[in-house]
Amino acid sequence: MRPISAPTPALRFRRLRRTAALRALTQENVLSTGDLIWPLFVRDGVGVEEPIASMPGVSRLSIDKVVQAAELAAGLGIPAICLFPYTDPSKKTELCEEAWNPDNLANRAIRAIKQAVPEIAVMTDVALDPYNSNGHDGIVRDGIIVNDETVEALVRMSLAQAESGADILGPSDMMDGRIGAMRSALEAAGHKDVSIMSYSAKYASAFYGPFRDAVGASGALKGDKKTYQMNPANSDEALRLIERDLREGADMVMVKPGMPYLDICRRVKDAFGAPTFAYQVSGEYAMLKGAALNGWVDGEKVMMESLMAFKRAGCDGILTYFAPEAARLLRG
Ligand code: PBG
Repeated sequence: MRPISAPTPALRFRRLRRTAALRALTQENVLSTGDLIWPLFVRDGVGVEEPIASMPGVSRLSIDKVVQAAELAAGLGIPAICLFPYTDPSKKTELCEEAWNPDNLANRAIRAIKQAVPEIAVMTDVALDPYNSNGHDGIVRDGIIVNDETVEALVRMSLAQAESGADILGPSDMMDGRIGAMRSALEAAGHKDVSIMSYSAKYASAFYGPFRDAVGASGALKGDKKTYQMNPANSDEALRLIERDLREGADMVMVKPGMPYLDICRRVKDAFGAPTFAYQVSGEYAMLKGAALNGWVDGEKVMMESLMAFKRAGCDGILTYFAPEAARLLRG
């Protein structure tokens, strides 16, 4: 430490903020369209765009419309989209058999997109909640979400998605051992190049509310997800989960939700240096959009600032419902 009385050079940090050129030259982090993954909600029908009330600007799309969205994304330089199916309640069962039906909505959508826009990466959701009559991510027996039987179901689901042409599988279920089981099954089935982005540190969060409306799981869900999703008070546990998932064969890892958990993103990136993603979830989107629509904040500015925060926290990319809006701004 310098003694307080010693003469100091004039530490004028404002020198480098004086002009746009100097600010650009000294900017530490950059957000680009290549950082974005766009989550999309798929539903049945043709030509359908059904707005989701709690997510202004986001709709459930029929497969033809999802293909158009994929084309738009590719045109904007967004490298990946992520599909979430809205399953008709009549197809939800306790054993979630629809999850591995090769002709379910998600798998049909994957095939349609890969045929029309082969260059875009298609990511999936591997979890049973859209297909489960009780809304949980796993199979429920006597009120318990059973781990190992769920993992077997997730493996079947993963293989059907890989068979349909998915590039990235996204297990969002938080069962133990699913990454290793999925990885072995993919290898055995000849899908050695299908990658896995594990929702490794997924918290039991109230920020998922609007998403559960979007996929029609809110009504079905009995109880909460605290026996499998993480306690929001924990941080060391996230590192242990990430380490485990990387060891079991995850190619990329994710922290979810995003903005309230940026400290976790930073710890994960520093500890492992693995491709690290954050999911700016539905409730985060709803908060920013809601405030913007009320004129309480500048929507574009808070959107871009929030996305840059993920880069500053060490993320390689962000799953965000803002993807097309942000990409348009980034491309000028
Ligand atoms: C469930 C799943 C959820 C989200 C993605 N996959 C919700 C949940 O765990 O209840 C949330 C995404 C969002 O809120 O945007 N497998």
